[in-house]
Amino acid sequence: MSDTRHFLTLLDFSPQELQQLLRRSIEMKRAYRAGEDQRAFPGRVLAMFFAKSSTRTRISFEAGMAQLGGHAMFLSAQDTQLGRGEPIEDSAKVISSMADLVMIRTFGHEIVERFAEHSSVPVINALTDDYHPCQLLADMQTWTEHRGSIAGKHVCWVGDGNNMCQSYINAARQFDFELSIACPPGFEPDSALLRANNDRVSIQHDPLTAARGADLVVTDVWASMGQEKEQRERAELFARYQVNGELMSLAASDALYMHCLPAHRGEEISAELMNAADTVIWDEAENRLHAQKALMEMLLLTNCA
Ligand code: CP
Ligand code: NVA
Repeated sequence: MSDTRHFLTLLDFSPQELQQLLRRSIEMKRAYRAGEDQRAFPGRVLAMFFAKSSTRTRISFEAGMAQLGGHAMFLSAQDTQLGRGEPIEDSAKVISSMADLVMIRTFGHEIVERFAEHSSVPVINALTDDYHPCQLLADMQTWTEHRGSIAGKHVCWVGDGNNMCQSYINAARQFDFELSIACPPGFEPDSALLRANNDRVSIQHDPLTAARGADLVVTDVWASMGQEKEQRERAELFARYQVNGELMSLAASDALYMHCLPAHRGEEISAELMNAADTVIWDEAENRLHAQKALMEMLLLTNCA
């Protein structure tokens, strides 16, 4: 069990493996668009457990597994014993004895860690309160397709120091870029994570300063899943932290902006930027499919071949 590879954060793969994954994802996208048969894994089963809502993650994993010739099974907290308190360790042993891969979207990051510890098959983190590494694969693919290597570039995060922001901190290390984070005081990412990456990650509270000269500007909702009750209070505290035309005018002249979606137009991002004809945000969403197919292939070939 101990040598099973999991994907709980970007740090589970080496920078070289991540680059290989991106190359493979770009190739799989081409093959998919060319109508090539990608059914390399007939009979393989992906168990997908969702304790939080999802559009992109569910559809991309489910469609991706079907395209690879396997089957994806949707499981939610409401209709599994896991949701009624069956221990995570017991659930991990049982589910991994019947499925070839497990994907989990949940609250505490320690839940995916405990599951992975007791799983005999690879576990994929499909978002926890702390990290969303699958989204970063899609974001890095999108950057690569439009601009080439991200190494040495300046990325600016505007908004909450949340799971996406923390995944960008890991990405800065693994993909070798500088990250300036602009968040309201009190909404910084984890301090230990910041300390461990202070050679390339900085915190500023003024979004206009942080975005100056940036090659890529990224944002996300002000209140994440599980923080719905804080939505109104956060809307006031975050009002200055909107990615809009004014902020983008301070970034590099060919800067891109990204958003993992779902987006709130007029809050963290302006309607104008969301509706722009040349935004890469829709490529970013589509790339979830291709990047996760490459991820599943890599995990299946490494662990289960
Ligand atoms: N970006 C993302 O993970 O979207 P969903 O919540 O719709 O899965
Ligand atoms: N930070 C957001 C990301 C959604 C994909 C959340 O956790 O709700």
